[in-house]
This record gives sequence, structure tokens and C-alpha cells, in this order.
Amino acid sequence: MKKIIFSLFIALGSVSAAQAADADAGKEKAAACSACHGPTGVSASPMFPNLAGQNDAYVIKQLKDFKSGARSDAMMAPMAANLSEEDMADLAAYFASLPNAIEQAAASASSGTSSDSAPASAPAAGNVEIISSTPAAALYAGDVAAGKAKSATCATCHGADGNSLVAMYPSLAGQSANYIAKQLADFKSGNRKDPVMAGMAAALSQEDMNDLAAFFAVQTAKAGTGETNEAGHKLYFGGDAEKGVSACVACHGVGGKGMKQAGFPSVSGQSKDYLVKQLASFRDGSRANDNSGIMRNIAIKLSDAEIEAVAQYITSLK
Ligand code: HEC
Ligand code: HEC
Ligand code: HEC
Repeated sequence: MKKIIFSLFIALGSVSAAQAADADAGKEKAAACSACHGPTGVSASPMFPNLAGQNDAYVIKQLKDFKSGARSDAMMAPMAANLSEEDMADLAAYFASLPNAIEQAAASASSGTSSDSAPASAPAAGNVEIISSTPAAALYAGDVAAGKAKSATCATCHGADGNSLVAMYPSLAGQSANYIAKQLADFKSGNRKDPVMAGMAAALSQEDMNDLAAFFAVQTAKAGTGETNEAGHKLYFGGDAEKGVSACVACHGVGGKGMKQAGFPSVSGQSKDYLVKQLASFRDGSRANDNSGIMRNIAIKLSDAEIEAVAQYITSLK
């Protein structure tokens, strides 16, 4: 009997510990989740579940299972790998505290178009929807034809159809529109530093960025022509469990085309020089515009040889 009472106390103790989980801390930690699960826990993509209003005990159990491998998912495994029990409790408390998807939709319907950045008109045919992962921004669309007209100044370096002919300049053809618009905003704000692009982006309005992003996103990317690389292939698909390197495939996809809705960039079609430069820049922190350090945390664990190998492998993706 004593034993039962004792364990009851422990159980009660852990219940109150769960209640002490900090939803505010969870909100901060959830920045890393917003790319897929949405800034308010409601996902923009049918591939990713909503978490807003979910029971906290259920969320904690799933996160533990993703971490232990009891529930296996290529995207969630690397996300859960670095979470402590406290992180999980805080995240669960935060998501549980949010109104669920239906409540959020009802609230935004009754308050009309609440966001300043919402477009005046509905997205028309031929436009590309851009869903920003930044909480403030609403769904908006860029105009492909307007983007084409505005892209004349970009063609010298990025190619008229977004396929660059010079190794230093990245290709933009077929790139995620979300990602392009974010990079342009980052170059403009100085969040991503490049002297050439800072000058190019300085004069662009948000509308220009959306239009340019829409235009390049619908261009056809050329297939990679590089040679494959065995070590790079292994790292791309399997990561490195010993070093804690997430598999690139989880976010950049099997063919290197990224995940458009989440704003995860396509990496295929880029030159090896450009890929190496970006990975090295994430590693030394000179490129730090990745939300929550998602790429810096990976690149910091890569050796020069691994960067070379994985970049070489990516150039072979069709
Ligand atoms: C790269 C995209 C991505 C990111 C980033 C991401 N998730 Fe997920 N998450 C997924 C996918 C995909 C699933 C569905 C997995 C499946 O099919 O089993 C999922 C499932 C879940 C589930 C289970 C939901 C359910 O109803 O069973 C939880 C909980 C969860 N994620 C929490 C998080 C948290 C917390 C973070 C941030 C620390 C996060 N996720 C970041 C893609 C992502
Ligand atoms: C003089 C050459 C030049 C011109 C002109 C130029 N760019 Fe760039 N752009 C670059 C370079 C160099 C980089 C790579 C910067 C780095 O290494 O981080 C870049 C990077 C980018 C990126 C990031 C790509 C990625 O994969 O992350 C985008 C988006 C972009 N440029 C869009 C544009 C647009 C839109 C225009 C026209 C308004 C333009 N650029 C004009 C040289 C140029
Ligand atoms: C958890 C998701 C995730 C994983 C895993 C991941 N990446 Fe990324 N990667 C991103 C995101 C997000 C960005 C864009 C950051 C930004 O907003 O600028 C990015 C950007 C990049 C870029 C720059 C692309 C460009 O056009 O400038 C390269 C190169 C890259 N990743 C390579 C890799 C490699 C190689 C691996 C595996 C070793 C990897 N990534 C694993 C999410 C991921």
C-alpha cells in the first residue's frame, strides 16, 4: 500500500511538472517547426499535420517516439533528435495552448482580411502562390508576366530563363518561389550578405520580389550533368548518425528539388562551386539567414571533404 501511495505521489508530481511546462518558451522553440507545421500550428501543406490545439501528452509521446525511432519519419527524426524532455514539454504546452485549425479559420473569417500584407485580389490563374513561413505574412501571389519583365536586369548573371551559365551565379529556374522571395528580402535587409545581390535587391518592393519569384519558379531547370560521388550519396540519403548530421534528403528531397511549400530550396542544377560556397558559409556563419540555424547546425558538423563530396553528388541529380 505504501508503495502504491508513493508511486501515486510520483505520478502527481510528474503531472504538475508537465503543467509547469512553459508555453512561452515553447513558442520560441517552435520557430524550427513553423516551416512545416505553420507559424500558428496550422500547416499550409497537406503533407504536414496541424499541431494547434493538439493534446500535450500526445505531442510529447510522438516526439519521444520520433526521437527513439519507435515512430519513424525521415523529416521528424532529425527534428526530434536534438530535443530534451523539457523542450518537448514546452513545445507541447505551446501547441496545446493554440486554438485549433477550425477555430483559427473561424476567427480569421469573422475578422475579415485582417493582415495588411494580404493581396487586394485573389490569386489569378498563372500566378504562383507564395506562402511565407514568417508569421506576419499572409498568402500572396506573384505575377509571372510582370516578373518576366522585371527579370531583365537579372539575366546577365542568372540567365534569361533562370539557368545560370557561370559557376559563381546560382540558377533560379524551378526554385521554390517562397525561397526566392525570402532570399531577396534577406539580401535587401542584410540578413543574407552579398555585395552584388544587396545592390540588386535594394530597389525591389515586396511586389517586385513576389513577381520575380513567381517568374523564376515556373522556369524549367536544366538537369544536373555532374559525376556522382559515393560518399556524397551516402551523406545525402543517410546523414551521419555518429556526428548527428541530418540526411539532406529529409528537406531537399530525393531528386534535390526541395519542398516548395516549406520554402526548402531546390539544390539540384547548381554548380559545385556555388554549393560548396554556401555550405562553407553556413558552416562559418557568414551565411546566417536560415531560420533557427537549420542549415548552420548541419554544416558546422561537416568536414571539407564531406562538403566536397556531397556537393559533387548533388551536381549529378537530374
Ligand atoms: C521538414 C518538415 C518538418 C519540420 C521542420 C517539423 N516537422 Fe513535425 N512532422 C512532419 C511530418 C512530415 C510529420 C508526419 C510524419 C508521419 O507521417 O508520420 C510530422 C509529424 C509531427 C508530429 C506528430 C503529429 C501527429 O498528429 O501525429 C508532431 C507532434 C510533430 N511533427 C512535431 C514537430 C515539432 C515540435 C517540430 C519542431 C521542433 C516539428 N515537428 C518540425 C514534418 C516536419
Ligand atoms: C551581377 C550579377 C548578378 C545580378 C545582375 C543578379 N544577381 Fe542574384 N546573385 C548573384 C550572386 C553572385 C549570387 C550568390 C550570392 C552568394 O554567393 O551568396 C546571387 C544570388 C541570388 C539569389 C539566391 C539564390 C539561391 O539559390 O540562394 C537570388 C534569389 C537572386 N540572386 C535573385 C536575383 C534577381 C531576382 C536578380 C534581378 C533583380 C538578380 N539576382 C540579379 C549575382 C547576381
Ligand atoms: C531540416 C531541413 C534541412 C536539412 C536536413 C538540410 N537542409 Fe539544406 N537547407 C534547408 C533550408 C531551410 C535552407 C534555406 C535556408 C534559407 O532560408 O536561406 C537550406 C539551404 C541549403 C543550401 C543553399 C541553397 C541555395 O540555393 O543557396 C544548400 C547548398 C543546402 N541546404 C545543402 C544541404 C545539404 C548538403 C544537406 C545535408 C548534409 C542539407 N542541406 C540538409 C533545410 C535543410
